[in-house]
Amino acid sequence: MTSSSRSSFNHVSPQAQTVLDTIQQRRSVDISKLSTESVPTEVIEAILTAGIWAPNHGQREPWRFTVFTGEARQRLGDILATSFAASEAKDADSEVAQQAQRERPLKAPVWISLELHIPEPARFPEWEEEAALACAVQNMLLAATAFGLASKWVTSVAMQHPLTSQALGAPRIMGFIYLGYLLPGETLPESKRTPLKEKVTWA
Ligand SMILES: Cc1cc2nc3c(=O)[nH]c(=O)nc-3n(C[C@H](O)[C@H](O)[C@H](O)COP(=O)(O)O)c2cc1C
Repeated sequence: MTSSSRSSFNHVSPQAQTVLDTIQQRRSVDISKLSTESVPTEVIEAILTAGIWAPNHGQREPWRFTVFTGEARQRLGDILATSFAASEAKDADSEVAQQAQRERPLKAPVWISLELHIPEPARFPEWEEEAALACAVQNMLLAATAFGLASKWVTSVAMQHPLTSQALGAPRIMGFIYLGYLLPGETLPESKRTPLKEKVTWA
């Protein structure tokens, strides 16, 4: 389809509009804007189900997820504090900084680890398996948005430390997402994108 034929296309079905709106409504939301109100298990399962319907080359499904809710978030905090203390972060020795790592998971009601499990034997370049997991992450973020949840994909030094993967029994972790409802009075942050014409060539 050329640019000119696309611009003459002016009918968007309600279903298509809902998808397009959800994509643009998703924002990465700072954890300080979240309430600790719990998220129903059925909603978390629906979000995970959206994740596993991501495209993945050769049906290899190179993902696993660990869901931390309730008291399990304290275990996650302990893991991240330990990893942080062992990391090369310049304030790794700081007890205050370690404590902040320990407490951070308690500020959002749901954390989901993004674990890359590449089936043996390797069949495709590793980037394709990473891309499949990234597609799963975006599906989950969009599903969360559709459920009225705020979210963010986060990848800190502690999360990427080998001790964190070891603690979760994962070969590699591509960070975490956290989910939660906005606190009353909080709004989604602004975001922006470079105009399409600067990123797209119609050949
Ligand atoms: C792979 C990946 C890792 C990210 N890691 C972080 C992070 O560690 N901390 C953070 O604040 N945001 C992180 N983000 C979110 C981006 O900062 C965010 O998507 C970007 O600012 C655009 O904002 P938007 O998502 O609201 O459109 C990450 C996003 C991706 C895709």
